[in-house]
Amino acid sequence: MKFGHFDDKNREYVITQPDTPLPWINYLGCQAYFGLISNTGGGYSFYRDARLRRITRYRYNNVPLDFGGRYVYLRDDQSAQFWSPSWQPTRHDAENYTCRHGMGYSIIGSTYQGIESHTKYFVPLDETLEVWQVTVTNHRATKATISAFASIEFCLWDAQDDTTNFQRNFSTGQVEVEDGVIYHKTEYRERRDHFAYFACSRPTAGFDTQRESFLGKYRGWDKPATVEAGQLTNSVAHGWSPIGAHQVKLELAPGETQQITFVLGYHENPQDQKFDPAGSQTVNKTLVKPVIAKYLDTVTVDSAFERLRQYWDGVLGLFQVDTPDPHTNRMVNIWNAYQCMATFNMSRSASFFESGIGRGLGFRDSNQDLLGFVHMVPSRARERILDLAATQLPSGGAYHQYQPLTKRGNNDVGGNFNDDPHWLIIGVSAYLKETGDWSILEEKVPYDNQPGSETPLFEHLQRSFQYTLDRLGPHGLPLIGRADWNDCLNLNCFSDTPGQSFQTTTNKDGNTAESVFIAGLFVLAGNELARIAKHHGKAALAEQYLAEVAKMDAVVRKHGWDGEWFLRAYDDFGAKVGSKECEEGKIYIEPQGFCVLAGIGLEDGMAAKALDSTRKHLATKHGIVLQQPPYSKYYLNLGEISSYPPGYKENAGIFCHNNPWVIIAETRLGHGDEAHDYYLRINPSAREDIGDLHRCEPYVYAQMIAGKDAPSHGEAKNSWLTGTAAWNYYAIAQWILGIRTSFDGLRIAPVIPKSWPGFTATRTFRGVVYTIAIERKGPGNTIALTVDGKPIQGDIVPPPTDGRTNVVVKGVLS
Ligand code: GLC
Ligand code: GLC
Repeated sequence: MKFGHFDDKNREYVITQPDTPLPWINYLGCQAYFGLISNTGGGYSFYRDARLRRITRYRYNNVPLDFGGRYVYLRDDQSAQFWSPSWQPTRHDAENYTCRHGMGYSIIGSTYQGIESHTKYFVPLDETLEVWQVTVTNHRATKATISAFASIEFCLWDAQDDTTNFQRNFSTGQVEVEDGVIYHKTEYRERRDHFAYFACSRPTAGFDTQRESFLGKYRGWDKPATVEAGQLTNSVAHGWSPIGAHQVKLELAPGETQQITFVLGYHENPQDQKFDPAGSQTVNKTLVKPVIAKYLDTVTVDSAFERLRQYWDGVLGLFQVDTPDPHTNRMVNIWNAYQCMATFNMSRSASFFESGIGRGLGFRDSNQDLLGFVHMVPSRARERILDLAATQLPSGGAYHQYQPLTKRGNNDVGGNFNDDPHWLIIGVSAYLKETGDWSILEEKVPYDNQPGSETPLFEHLQRSFQYTLDRLGPHGLPLIGRADWNDCLNLNCFSDTPGQSFQTTTNKDGNTAESVFIAGLFVLAGNELARIAKHHGKAALAEQYLAEVAKMDAVVRKHGWDGEWFLRAYDDFGAKVGSKECEEGKIYIEPQGFCVLAGIGLEDGMAAKALDSTRKHLATKHGIVLQQPPYSKYYLNLGEISSYPPGYKENAGIFCHNNPWVIIAETRLGHGDEAHDYYLRINPSAREDIGDLHRCEPYVYAQMIAGKDAPSHGEAKNSWLTGTAAWNYYAIAQWILGIRTSFDGLRIAPVIPKSWPGFTATRTFRGVVYTIAIERKGPGNTIALTVDGKPIQGDIVPPPTDGRTNVVVKGVLS
């Protein structure tokens, strides 16, 4: 069952039924001011940090679902009937409900009793505000007299404190209302120099800023007493819950359309100019007023919207493909790239599943996300890399997370996730291949943000590599620490106390439990580091790294192989994890995908065997599950993984983040059909028709789809903020379509399905536009390339040396 459809031409998903299985959201903003918006107007806004600078309130896991947002109400002042064009919060049975989620904007509306209305929500580039452009059309044969209301609920800035500290917060709320603009200034009198505002382009017929005055006693957003009565009360909030509500009266002749613009914004004043007049307690509005005036003008709004469109045209235009498969095209050209940008902006902080008050930026997560967005925002990727590296510890280890506002490592979680440091090598390597900007390796970067500890970034990578060599276990495999990529395989934790964190509890000495996954990652990262060192003029170092990689490769083949597949780990007793000898959890996906993608066992048949076993034991029609059989009970020696009921999350769920490892592994063996088949199983667009089962948005990946052991096999959860976005983008773009960045140029090495006659693509790479056409003449993966009509050797297109910025590449597969 579908709840809408794709409009690829406009890069929109059009939802036509408001009660989607879950709120289907979109993101507004791409720089500093952000919002989440659901298909019925729910969601919230914040400036930079979803926890510390929350602008509006949102109550997660609310009953009913998804209440609180950017709500517009219309009231027919003749009949006294009122409704909300976005369905929520009044949930009237309107006609033609549509929500168009586009690139950085959403347009939501419907028609009720002949009055059509939709609201376009977006954040203009380079501004810290959002615009709601409300359009109302009278399709009746008679004149309509309408009151339009717009409302939001302010958050008292720190979202965590706001939902817990009521003894204080019920007394601190403060607002000012001046010239029809509502200013929210809680805590401005003391240490904050920022405030929020809510403005309207038309003269208003009233406002409210105290929630209870607006809603009425014991009422909800579905039935505000003031909207019902048709008159706001001009309340001025003091304490309790400040809101912003405006009322505008419209007279619409038959067929007439009118627009109203509302602007919700965030503003910071210089500390010494907070008040006007100086010495008073009144917010100085001189700096913000011109900004407000600018966006209350329709012409500015329309041109700002056009600029936003152009921005996304530019970003997405860097890589566009035309293949025989519409799901591939749509995800590569539009939605997967867009989701990668959401992970760049949000990391794992704010979604419908991430409350914005939990995790900071993950070291591992953010480095992997680079794989998906580095070509779209290379200079911001550079900054991200340097920020991440600055939280690295002198040992080469890393804080697991850092806070985006302070850019400091997060002490509550700490480090000792022994895979973390290697992801820095993977991230930097992706950046170097994309940009060719070798100067980044010379950047002086501190450890643990300590001034005086700076070394060139290259040394950070060396320490990352050395970190594992300093932490080898009894079999010569890397010690796992608190966990590796799988946060829930906690082999040194042994927790028997409810509520204790699996991530931070460590009560074993950590000298026994080893990870085959980290071994695979070490091989991948070590090979990358060797190539980087060679390019960087350090050939002797490169040799050393390769020798260590060869040793680890041999150790994996000796101690990390179970006969039919790669083992997952050794636990604290030295017993195998992910082995046929285990009662449960006999085979895991991570080492199969990752060891093969790292190139282990390609020559001697181990890789092929591992992938056959994956197909046989782990593949389902909804994707590849994480392990089998699932853990049916809690294992003290394994930790959080066995805390989940079978089929969910790491306990045999389909973890969409690691499926692309197997996809890439299949391409390494030349299996284009298998790779693309796996790709489609979790591709959200390809799952659109089963929307009632899948339940999450059909335009973005979810972290997890319930595995075959769960009652709801095929049901997705945790959409948007997941490494799944970057890895799937990387797998399809760079390995199946094979348009792959390398240190020496753009490689063209497709491993596509046999049935495809070919495909075309355009890729901007280091300032040059490559127009690529691949034609299949035989069933294999052997490629013959011509560049601007001339045949070349090999599969790497060398960058033009004569200043050309357009290159035409033709490839013939045989
Ligand atoms: C989550 C985490 C990621 C981890 C994965 C597997 O997606 O963000 O860091 O690797 O779960 O546990
Ligand atoms: C839980 C989740 C895992 C996630 C982690 C983040 O362990 O199962 O997927 O990575 O929390 O801290």
